[in-house]
This record gives sequence, C-alpha cells and structure tokens, in this order.
Amino acid sequence: MKPKILVTREVFDETLAYLNDHCDVESNQTDKPFDAATLAQRLKDKDGVVCCLTDRIDPAVLAAAQRLKVVANIAVGYNNIDVPACTARGVMVTNTPGVLDDSTADLAFTLMLAAARRLTEAEAYIRAGQWQGWHLKQLLGVDVHHATLGIIGMGRIGQQIARRAGGFKMRVLYQNRNRWPADVEKWLNAEYVTKEQLLAQSDFVVLQIPYSPATHHYIGAAELKQMKPTAILINSTRGGVIDDAALIDALKNGTIRAAGLDVFENEPQLNPDFLELKNVVLAPHVGSSTEATRRAMAMTAANNAVAALTGSTPPNLLNTEAKNKA
Ligand code: GLV
Repeated sequence: MKPKILVTREVFDETLAYLNDHCDVESNQTDKPFDAATLAQRLKDKDGVVCCLTDRIDPAVLAAAQRLKVVANIAVGYNNIDVPACTARGVMVTNTPGVLDDSTADLAFTLMLAAARRLTEAEAYIRAGQWQGWHLKQLLGVDVHHATLGIIGMGRIGQQIARRAGGFKMRVLYQNRNRWPADVEKWLNAEYVTKEQLLAQSDFVVLQIPYSPATHHYIGAAELKQMKPTAILINSTRGGVIDDAALIDALKNGTIRAAGLDVFENEPQLNPDFLELKNVVLAPHVGSSTEATRRAMAMTAANNAVAALTGSTPPNLLNTEAKNKA
C-alpha cells in the first residue's frame, strides 16, 4: 500500500505527478486554504502532508493526525509549524532552503530600488494622467549605488543580497547571530557590526532574519529612531519582525524616509494605513515567486515528503530527533 499524503494548496502538475508515483495523494487544487478544523480532519488518515506557510501545523492539528510522519513545508521559513510539538510526536519537518536564495535576494533589491527611486509613486502618477512633461526636480529619489547597506540576518539569502550589493558598489554592514569567518566576510565584502551601529550607519536596512518569538518586533519604535531620517527599511523575510504600527508612524513622521515591504503582520489583512502612504512600496509576499523558483520549491518539498515516507532521510530535515524517534 502506498503512503497517504495530503497536499494542502495548489501545486504544479509535475509536483502532483511525482507525488502520485509514490503516494496515494489527496490534494486541494482549488487553492482555497483549509481552516484549522478541516486541516485536522483531512490529516486523520494521512502519513504525510505537503503544506504551505499559510497552514498552521499546531498541537491541535497534530493531535488529530495520529499517523503523520512528515510535514513538508513549501517554504524556507517554517514559523507556521510547531517544530518541538512535531518532534515530540516523532513527526519529521522539512523546508526548502537554497532553491529560493537568488530570487528572494532579487526581490529585496527590487524593493530597495523601487523605494529609493519612488517607482510605485511614479507609476501611479503616470496612470493618473498627471504627467505634463519633464521637470528637473521631478520625483527626486536617492541613490542605491555607493550607499551603505545594513543586512540583518546573514544566512543564505542575506549573503546573496550582499553579493549583489558589490555590483552597486555599496558598503555592506551586517548583523547575524554568529559572525562569519574572515574568508566569508571577504567574499561578502561585509563588515560585522552591532545592531546599534548597523541601524545608525545604514542608508538601507534589509531584514532577512527568520520570525520567531525571539525576533518578534525586532524593529520597533526605538530601533526606527536609531535609523537615519534618510534611511529606507526593507522587509523581505516575515511579517512580525517589524512592529508595523510603529513603522507606519515612522513613515508618517519622517523618522525614516521610506520602506519596501513584501511581508506584513497578520497578512493578508495588512494595516490599512500602509495604503495611504506614498513612501512605502508594497508587495504581496512574492519574494520567491518566479516560475522556476516556485516550481523548484514545490518539487523540493515533494522530494522531502517522499524520502521521509519511503524510509530515507529527507534532504532538508529540520528535526533529526524526530526521525530517530519514528
Ligand atoms: C517564503 O516566504 C519562504 O519562507 O519560503
């Protein structure tokens, strides 16, 4: 008998075909997310689940899923999953690191450039039919090239952002849980500094740390005050690492110049005040959303799930203790 697996959201045809080769698949290709009760109910007889960052895998869901052996998240971040609760039940958890680094770094740069050069404001101006002609002082922005970039979270994606910064001749500062060895810092052309130094010196601050209770509101009113009034804040990681209400105040009061955001607290119900502000560039959590990268992420998750259900170690296993338990 093939193992039973649930796919919670729409995936690509090749992802489903691969899963069908190895598993008995139930999939939600309507792409309407399951509510918690439905998810728990659907998982009752499943050995595995391929899920997304919009699915909460918490103790209540796990309690209903007595046969579950693997939770394969189609994302690198996994704050939607209670990993310790999974480990306690011997449920393996996997994510999709690596395949999305370049695309997500590209999006961080897209937000930086768009916020610096006021691109969404410029486009709205044209679409509103307001453009009367060229003007020397029109929509003056700030330069990205030769500016100082502060990267908070120098993991895989942070590193790709730093490498891109070289092309823009930027000075790169970084803050990370651990300092990288000298050869890595040389490759990144980045200087390790304290959070305070980074906030005080950077023209652009990019957040690339994972969300957890420890990083909740990592940037709040106090941190925003430490930034330059000309600084631009970019969040291409997870909502919740910024206190959105404090950021809105800072953008309204000129505490900082602008922001570029791909993620929000309580998304998709973002704070409506963002919509009124001209100095923020908004994107709907599309950091990794290129055709090639999203296909690679879905296939990586499917591979992880199949490995776990066929007795191999999933390539991106996050909790090895769970495999030893199973
Ligand atoms: C997307 O946000 C991811 O974590 O992969």
